[in-house]
Amino acid sequence: MLEITDLSAGYGQVNALRGISLSISDGEILAVIGANGAGKTTLLKTIAGQLPAKSGRIMFDGADVTRLPTFERARQGIILVPEGRRLFKSLTVEENLQVGLSAKRPGPWSLASVYELFPLVADRRHRRAGDMSGGEQQATAIARALVANPKVLLLDEVSLGLAPAIIADLYASLPTILAHGTSILLVEQDVAQALKVADEVHCLLQGSTSLTGAGFEMPEISRAYFGS
Ligand SMILES: Nc1ncnc2c1ncn2[C@@H]1O[C@H](COP(=O)(O)OP(=O)(O)OP(=O)(O)O)[C@@H](O)[C@H]1O
Ligand SMILES: [Mg+2]
Repeated sequence: MLEITDLSAGYGQVNALRGISLSISDGEILAVIGANGAGKTTLLKTIAGQLPAKSGRIMFDGADVTRLPTFERARQGIILVPEGRRLFKSLTVEENLQVGLSAKRPGPWSLASVYELFPLVADRRHRRAGDMSGGEQQATAIARALVANPKVLLLDEVSLGLAPAIIADLYASLPTILAHGTSILLVEQDVAQALKVADEVHCLLQGSTSLTGAGFEMPEISRAYFGS
């Protein structure tokens, strides 16, 4: 469904991503892992169109989207849950979800169904987003993406700064999201967490692919992650 070939991107002279190739099929979870600064966020931003590709190609549902603006990619079903959540903190939870609804495609997700998936978000729908806990904010950010009915959901470090029980709750929502027809590309620093849910892993090391596939043992992953 999503096929990336030889993708490079960066910031000015900085080549943060070099020659990345990966693909995701319908109903699959791919985890991109890697240390701080490995290029994970850069990859997601480039797929979502927030950062231009320097070279390479991004195919989505058989069409070349490499040069499309972000809103066009969103309209086709590529939706990013950004690092740090990026909620509108002075707006209520529900107002944040309405922002997601503005990019709505046809599909199973609605305010009612995301509230069912995240009851805590439903309970707090009239609160200011900025007043909620980190876990609640993360759930709201995922809900905001879901109401647009993505075909592929790009999740950047869902677990960052959250307690293990909260992380487990958020990860427990992923099977339901898959079952509703959305594939998931998630970025995660917590390798054990990533391996638990992913069909395949893709490890980045200083902007390049150091490992890709499935069924690896921990020592192999550790070498790819740390480059030692
Ligand atoms: N806006 C920017 N301007 C210049 N360089 C940047 C910018 N954002 C990131 N970089 C650099 O690009 C490289 C990759 O950064 P990126 O944020 O993609 O890493 P990451 O894997 O997401 O790291 P983290 O786990 O800390 O989120 C790093 O060397 C980083 O310093
Ligand atoms: Mg990052």
